[in-house]
Amino acid sequence: MAQVTDSFTFNRQQFMKNRTVMAPMTNMQSHEDGTLHERELRWLTRRAEGDFGMIVTCASHVRKDAKAWHGQLGFFDDSLLPGLREIPRELHRHGALAIAQLFHGGVRSTSKTTGQQPVAPSVVHQDFKDFEVPRALSEKEILEIIQDFKAAAVRAHKAGFDGVEIHGANGYLFTQFISTVTNLRTDKWGGSLSNRARFLFEVLKEIRSACPSPFIVGVRLLPEDTAKARGFDIDETCQLLEQMPEYKVDYIHLSGRDVRAKPWKYPEGSRTILARFRQSLPSTIALIAAGGIKTEGDCEAAFRDGADLVAVATAAITEPDWPKKIAKPGFMPKALPLTVAEARERAISEPFIEYLKTMKMVKSE
Ligand SMILES: Cc1cc2nc3c(=O)[nH]c(=O)nc-3n(C[C@H](O)[C@H](O)[C@H](O)COP(=O)(O)O)c2cc1C
Repeated sequence: MAQVTDSFTFNRQQFMKNRTVMAPMTNMQSHEDGTLHERELRWLTRRAEGDFGMIVTCASHVRKDAKAWHGQLGFFDDSLLPGLREIPRELHRHGALAIAQLFHGGVRSTSKTTGQQPVAPSVVHQDFKDFEVPRALSEKEILEIIQDFKAAAVRAHKAGFDGVEIHGANGYLFTQFISTVTNLRTDKWGGSLSNRARFLFEVLKEIRSACPSPFIVGVRLLPEDTAKARGFDIDETCQLLEQMPEYKVDYIHLSGRDVRAKPWKYPEGSRTILARFRQSLPSTIALIAAGGIKTEGDCEAAFRDGADLVAVATAAITEPDWPKKIAKPGFMPKALPLTVAEARERAISEPFIEYLKTMKMVKSE
């Protein structure tokens, strides 16, 4: 069984000094026009100094109207390249792999951030704050967005990133296509599972053709329904995993609530979601576990169920040096919420502090 301190190599070339991943985190610290701000770079670099083996950026939009938050980092234009180049340059200086998470918000890219009506596979009403009725994408627009993802991946490659992670989780555009609730299309982009997954697989095909190995291509996937995204089935997700070798995917990043969780569908079953993922994925494709990982015991539970790497979000907020501390007996990350001063000490700047306050991860003072 792997240990968190063991190294890992992708494609026999891309070396990770340990098995730790900083999970993607929206932090709203960049400029309004999508260019990198010093404070987002500092937030990432501080975690590389803390010895994370791989750092994934925030969900970053691949076209202007795919943006879902203020201060979101963009990958939609070559004019962003000077800023983007700084991320891998700094992360590599500290020995971390740099991965760009590529994103389109779909119905969640509302006019508040884009100035335009949101788009989605189908016009479906959803119950979330700031919901706006979307417009259904035409086939021509779907094909354009696929090309936007390809162009963004090429840009990441040019900027010196080691790879990209497609954000196929948490209720954004890819999940809006895969979901049986939000995709009601009757053309080749809706209906059967293979039609609903076509958008994801076409994006992967295009990216791989433009960015051959050893450039890393990962996919973040939602295994089943959550409060925010409905219309998912663990058995369907496992069927998608079985198809991943065809698209030369290097890793799957499970977006979970708890690494030890069993599926809603099979609560009495013996296997966790993670173990089911591992069983459906060939061993040549790495599996990243995320969800509630804090201690070495949590890492062990993930490795036991077949994870190759462990990703943390919350623990990377409270403990920028988590990889250096994790193997110390009895280590437990600082509990949330942080005070504003504690957040600042951890290279977290005001826009992110305000965002974390809305999640009660930083105290409102
Ligand atoms: C502040 C914050 C921002 C997040 N932003 C993203 C994101 O941009 N992309 C993504 O895939 N997941 C995002 N997540 C989810 C995390 O990557 C992670 O899967 C989740 O928090 C569970 O891990 P944890 O228990 O270690 O926090 C975010 C989580 C937090 C706390």
